[in-house]
Amino acid sequence: MQIEYRQRREQLMAKIGNGTAIFRSAPMAVMHNDVEYVYRQDSDFFYLTGFNEPQAVAVLAPHHAEHRFVLFVQPKDREKEVWSGYRCGIDAAKEIYGADEAYPIHELDEKLPQYLEKADRIYYHLGRDRAFNDTILGHYQRLLQTYPKRGTGPVAIEDTGTIIHSMRLIKSQAELELMRQAAAIAIEAHNHAQEITAPGRYEYEIQAEIERIFRVRGGMGPAYPSIVASGVNACVLHYIENERQMQDGELLLIDAGCAYGYYNSDITRTFPVGGKFTPEQKTLYEIVLEAQKQAIAQVQPGNSFKSVHDTAVRVLTEGLVELGILQGEIDKLIEEDKYKPYYMHRTSHWLGLDVHDVGVYQHGEDKPQILQPGQILTVEPGLYIVPDTKLAEDQPETHPRWVGIGIRIEDDVLVTPNGHEVLTAGVPKEVDEVER
Ligand code: GLY
Ligand code: MN
Ligand code: MN
Repeated sequence: MQIEYRQRREQLMAKIGNGTAIFRSAPMAVMHNDVEYVYRQDSDFFYLTGFNEPQAVAVLAPHHAEHRFVLFVQPKDREKEVWSGYRCGIDAAKEIYGADEAYPIHELDEKLPQYLEKADRIYYHLGRDRAFNDTILGHYQRLLQTYPKRGTGPVAIEDTGTIIHSMRLIKSQAELELMRQAAAIAIEAHNHAQEITAPGRYEYEIQAEIERIFRVRGGMGPAYPSIVASGVNACVLHYIENERQMQDGELLLIDAGCAYGYYNSDITRTFPVGGKFTPEQKTLYEIVLEAQKQAIAQVQPGNSFKSVHDTAVRVLTEGLVELGILQGEIDKLIEEDKYKPYYMHRTSHWLGLDVHDVGVYQHGEDKPQILQPGQILTVEPGLYIVPDTKLAEDQPETHPRWVGIGIRIEDDVLVTPNGHEVLTAGVPKEVDEVER
């Protein structure tokens, strides 16, 4: 992998010319009092370095004669390492991670200017770490003040995102292998969850089994808080309490994905707790399934990202009209967002190092993002007949028999040269497969 990290840095450096790019590791996050969350490296930082420690800064200075890649890291410290674990230290930052030069992080302010003085731009992503933003702005300001003395130095700050996020959007073979493994583990977990679900069991029991499989198969854990939502809970898009006892006659919606080697999967299935759909559940389920299949069929190189969502919306709206939940002309209902009380989220997002991965969805209003081989997106339409939803005045009241049903079906789809591959096809979703 070190070769691939180096190739990515080279690719980035080729694009920044005489600039210097600065990347900051993710900050530590507090869970409560002095207890911290498990550390997870910033995805851009990891993508370029593979380095997973906190308190680090990576500098890429393609114009520098000797030090094109510099790492600032936590120095070795036996006492501190006893408390909070192994640190790679200065020497290994060079030997293992390929830095041309490495320094202890506390020397950042002293050493950084030499990599900026001859740069024409600073490439930096203004992030949530306000204190570090101020550090970079402080250096920039001092270099601007002293510019007349040198006649060189950065005269603009540019966002690194526009460059690196378009690189991250197209997955390499090595990335794809990790994505496949993240998918394979989640497939196993979802299949197991379907087997053990039964009336009387609690949502958290199913969550525990899913997350057990994530870990015993070598995953880092859940890619995001697992959603195990029975009955009306499925109408809350981000329901994560997972505390309810499941009843016969209800549906269970599970939205759970695994993180593996920093890459993520993201799968949703909805199925009957007691094994059989009610007629209403089945009718709505078949609409969502059809919407998902037609949306997935749109995933082909040359089609727009937007066409996937538009297709799902059309099939869902047609279905709602057929049931009498919506009334009117399809195009007009879509144009006026009349489907939104029942389908309030988007159909897709990019997937990769981040669950909602980086990369743009359109290049301005009139310029769609066109799908290309190597991109991975989710396709996740749903219908949620939320209790007490106030409908538009010109719509009839939703008949009570539909109310409280929530359904989503989500797969992870790779754009291939000839079409697409559903990476998560190993979890059944046909009606006769999810009935038991
Ligand atoms: N589970 C988060 C999502 O589906 O986007
Ligand atoms: Mn998703
Ligand atoms: Mn999901």
